[in-house]
Amino acid sequence: MINLQGKTAIVTGSARGIGAEIAVKLAQAGCNIVISDIDEQGARQMAEKIKSLGRDSLAIKADVSQMAQADGLIKQTVEKFGRVDILVNNAGITRDNLLMRMSEAEWDSVITVNLKGTFNCIKSVTRTMMKARSGKIINISSVVGVMGNAGQANYSASKAGVIGLTKSVAKEFGSRHIQVNAVAPGYIQTEMTKDLPEEAKKQFVTLIPLQRPGQAEDVANAVLFLASDLSDYITGQVLHVDGGMVM
Ligand SMILES: NC(=O)c1ccc[n+]([C@@H]2O[C@H](COP(=O)([O-])OP(=O)(O)OC[C@H]3O[C@@H](n4cnc5c(N)ncnc54)[C@H](O)[C@@H]3O)[C@@H](O)[C@H]2O)c1
Repeated sequence: MINLQGKTAIVTGSARGIGAEIAVKLAQAGCNIVISDIDEQGARQMAEKIKSLGRDSLAIKADVSQMAQADGLIKQTVEKFGRVDILVNNAGITRDNLLMRMSEAEWDSVITVNLKGTFNCIKSVTRTMMKARSGKIINISSVVGVMGNAGQANYSASKAGVIGLTKSVAKEFGSRHIQVNAVAPGYIQTEMTKDLPEEAKKQFVTLIPLQRPGQAEDVANAVLFLASDLSDYITGQVLHVDGGMVM
């Protein structure tokens, strides 16, 4: 039984999708949750949902790509809860295009939110977790950060970058008992993937040994494990939640 009673988690990009499901799973295990997103209204609604589960929750509008806003997110969390035990770097975007047609703006925006945003939040939480000499950082990467994907050079580079970042920080933070791991989801049914062409969706499923798309809950279960003390001897790892797409 996983018990996160009395702990505080921040989940970025948790107004909807995978982040929202992660927030619910952690709350069900007893954790207080900071719902953070650029979508302020969605974040507020999710925070109310967490409260209805009997946990304390705070909605904070923060764009993770801005260091000052990442700093503010951690500061407000510490002011309210006094601690940050778990940081889930989940906020992410896609701006797909073939490399030949990809604009500099499409490249920059995806790298800035997905990779720099993860760096910003880790850097901001460092002092608090170092002082506590404990913490769990879970970064959401992607199967395409490992496999690559035509039309997603920016996104796959950002998610491969998240894996390198995870491993380096795991080495730096190990002596302070802070574990840093990544989760690499495969094809998960959310708003992010709903507009993919039907052909592409069918093609993805042919690559999945478990023969079905994943659900946000599949990813949230893996995050719950990595956020709990069941994973205390695991750091710098990439947990693939993709129905076996990558082995
Ligand atoms: N859906 C999939 O198949 C899949 C697969 C692999 C990895 N992922 C990753 O999982 C994570 C969640 O994806 P999802 O499918 O739930 O996507 P989603 O688009 O449904 O949700 C992403 C959330 O992040 C928020 N967000 C976007 N930019 C932000 C910013 N700059 N600062 C703060 N919040 C921001 C959005 O407002 C939204 O609420 C992403 O990192 C994504 O890359 C998704």
